[in-house]
Amino acid sequence: MNHIDWNDRYSDEEFIYGTNPNEFLVEHSSKLRGPVLSLAEGEGRNAVFLALLGLHVTGVDGSSIGLTKARKLASMKGVDILTEVADLATYNPAPNHYMSVISISAHLPSNIRNRLYPLVERCLMPNGLLLLEAYSENQLRRNTGGPNDADMLMTVSKIEREFPNLEPLMLHEIQREVSEGKHHTGMASVVQFIGRKMV
Ligand SMILES: C[S@@+](CC[C@H](N)C(=O)[O-])C[C@H]1O[C@@H](n2cnc3c(N)ncnc32)[C@H](O)[C@@H]1O
Repeated sequence: MNHIDWNDRYSDEEFIYGTNPNEFLVEHSSKLRGPVLSLAEGEGRNAVFLALLGLHVTGVDGSSIGLTKARKLASMKGVDILTEVADLATYNPAPNHYMSVISISAHLPSNIRNRLYPLVERCLMPNGLLLLEAYSENQLRRNTGGPNDADMLMTVSKIEREFPNLEPLMLHEIQREVSEGKHHTGMASVVQFIGRKMV
């Protein structure tokens, strides 16, 4: 992501995106069923929140330090999560295995998305849901977080094109106040998507 060294960024003691879950995820969490796959889980705030709801969650991320903090957060909150260190450029989620996939601020270049997203569709069970929030291309005009690279930012039409086998239950771009750690703070332009795997 913009050539960020994520292990370096996560090597602070503090949780740089905070320990509170993403607001869009909280708002729609009652729709999610397990098992859940969390793409680019980072330091665990979202996986731990879902585990506290009783869901079985696997968090995958390229940063071993991020996922070590995720397991620490889980143990502080008294829940179990599974973690897997993997590069999403080569990651192969088990087919037909998950009832939900979440992707929160998982800003990836199009060459990775083009390979990964068909596998995300394939890893969902019928009627399974993908819940995604990402900064939109309009975020480039702001200085409130996210990659400074349009290729890594989303639009409604990119979602429609990149997830042809998911029926959109919600798909829009909105402006919302984000307060999720020191790198994601302030009024932001985001795309929010909930898509259902068609049977
Ligand atoms: C902005 S952070 C978001 C973390 C988490 N989803 C959250 O909302 O707190 C982006 C995450 O994507 C991960 N990431 C970026 N590129 C990746 C790749 N190619 N493979 C796996 N993880 C990647 C980083 O390690 C980082 O944890």
